[in-house]
Amino acid sequence: MPLVSGKEILQAAKEGGYAVGAFNVNNMEIIQAIVEAAEEEKSPVILQASQGAIKYAGLEYIVALVKTAADQVSVPVALNLDHGTSFDQAMKCVRGGFTAVMIDGSHYPFEENVAIVKKVADVAHAVGISVEGELGRIGGTEDDISVDAKDAFMTDPKDAKKFVELTNVDALAVAIGTAHGLYHGEPKLDFERLKEIRDVVDCAIVLHGASGVPDEAIKKAISVGVQKINIDTEIRLAFTQGVRKIIKEQPNEYDPRKILGPSKDAMKEVVKSKMRLFGSSNKA
Ligand code: G3H
Ligand code: ZN
Repeated sequence: MPLVSGKEILQAAKEGGYAVGAFNVNNMEIIQAIVEAAEEEKSPVILQASQGAIKYAGLEYIVALVKTAADQVSVPVALNLDHGTSFDQAMKCVRGGFTAVMIDGSHYPFEENVAIVKKVADVAHAVGISVEGELGRIGGTEDDISVDAKDAFMTDPKDAKKFVELTNVDALAVAIGTAHGLYHGEPKLDFERLKEIRDVVDCAIVLHGASGVPDEAIKKAISVGVQKINIDTEIRLAFTQGVRKIIKEQPNEYDPRKILGPSKDAMKEVVKSKMRLFGSSNKA
């Protein structure tokens, strides 16, 4: 079916008390794996492209591939810009066919973050596209965005309330102890803080850096009130481990389909297990 807005998917998640996975995409195999997994699990799904993914694959290719994949299935699929950092980039996505955009102004002072997010939201909302902002700073590395542990800081619930009121965002990414990329040691999530934020904001709450977060912590975050959970690293690992295995076991293989194809199954398994964990299976 045609792409749906991020807001539609997240509102249903809020009402149903579950979370929806937002999985990062960079190429055809990843897109197919995620959308096929969603169809088999009967789960709504959000596919998202970072600026790095857009630079790599091209905005038009990403949109065409995701729309084509969504057309093959009966579950709701949204396409989100992940960690967009400029008004221009967000507008290109709005015009190009994305159905949700994240504008990440978390590196700016509060007022500047509000200003850029509000500017994007005013335009995006006028054409039915939902908007995600970020408050606090999530540590770790994702594509060209790197935040040192010393620069990361948690979301202040009072600021979160103000931020949502001033920007009118549909979703808020919060910093409560997760980080982008691989964890060294077990992440400790601040559920008290999450609850304080949940109590004062009305929009959907987003957990970034969810790869490698233990299942129990994910379940608790959902029960407190998270509706969108971002996963990138675990899919990258499934993809590259699959490719490495084939190349190691069959060093003379030179057919790209036989090298990339099997990793699709590994990615599908990761996505399906996340959908079951998030409670979105059978919710489409
Ligand atoms: O925006 C995307 C993410 O927050 C993904 O984080 O690579 O740690 O799964 P991850
Ligand atoms: Zn992120």
